[in-house]
Amino acid sequence: MSGPVQAGGHSPATDNAPPHDPAPENAGPPNTATRNPAPGNPAPGNAAGPAGRVARAADTLRLVGRVAALSLHRPRRPDGRWDAFWRGVAHGSLREPIIWDAAPGTGNEEIRHHLQTMAALMDTSLPVVDLGCGNGALSGRLAGIFPSVVGVDVSPEAVAAAHAAHARIPDLSFRSLDATQPEAAAGLARELGDANVFVRGVFHVLSRRRQARLAASAEALLGARGRIYLVETNVPGSALSYLRGLGATGERIPGPLRQAITTLPKPGHFGAAQRARVFPARRWTLLAEGPAILKTVPMEPGGPPGSIPAYWAVLAPRLQTSGNHTSGKVSTRW
Ligand SMILES: C[S@@+](CC[C@H](N)C(=O)[O-])C[C@H]1O[C@@H](n2cnc3c(N)ncnc32)[C@H](O)[C@@H]1O
Repeated sequence: MSGPVQAGGHSPATDNAPPHDPAPENAGPPNTATRNPAPGNPAPGNAAGPAGRVARAADTLRLVGRVAALSLHRPRRPDGRWDAFWRGVAHGSLREPIIWDAAPGTGNEEIRHHLQTMAALMDTSLPVVDLGCGNGALSGRLAGIFPSVVGVDVSPEAVAAAHAAHARIPDLSFRSLDATQPEAAAGLARELGDANVFVRGVFHVLSRRRQARLAASAEALLGARGRIYLVETNVPGSALSYLRGLGATGERIPGPLRQAITTLPKPGHFGAAQRARVFPARRWTLLAEGPAILKTVPMEPGGPPGSIPAYWAVLAPRLQTSGNHTSGKVSTRW
């Protein structure tokens, strides 16, 4: 996920896409759909008629084969995949741009939306924990509105990179921790007291069981006053149209996409339906939610960013809503 987010109307999540590779860990892939083909890289077989359809089917077969071959050598354990990924980035063996990496500058509308929404709906006198912080690019921005920020990632390599990149920002620290271990989160909660939680692009790469555990970790961190802000890719349609939307064909898969397929867990949907399952209404109050369009890094050097439909929400544990939290849902638009 990366780059500015375009405004989008409030829309229900579509949650039924199939997996995008043969070894799925989750329910389905992000998908930018055919309405967003990469310029200069049109999907083959667009010509009308039987010949076009045959060409497109043949290209689809080639694309499926390519994705299957690329997925073959990924590390098997999800956490191992992440650490291997971040090690490859650090040591230069993975040279393509990180597909979700957000330009953290003030011109990034996506980031601006996150910060504005959090400032409006969270107690900004509390610390914030960035769960699954990666290289810490967004943790650094959170430091602008919260008194202290702790970035947490399962990958020690990611944490080392985040440290190195943000050593000079006061009250910003990073640590390696599996955020799907609620006991570990409870230990951090004892250090911090009540805290807010920020999650970007983590739920959609976890299995259902681990999604529930990530929510339990968040709950441990929030205490009586904190709230969680999450933003996740949430793509309707099929895996193939997602890949095509980012410029993939049977002949060629763009570098950042190829790198992600080769090294990372398969992404899935995370929209309103998944949020309702992971944050059930008997335990959580939904305070706000909405759709978004996240921009990826350019799929080709010098090209335009790609787009990935996404979903965001702000929630509070229900037990705390009798206090200073509103109990009604507030839907907002980007
Ligand atoms: C798609 S990246 C998003 C990174 C960052 N939030 C951003 O938006 O730039 C997902 C991140 O979650 C981390 N992650 C995956 N599983 C995790 C877990 N169980 N606990 C903590 N971090 C995890 C990965 O190492 C990776 O850095």
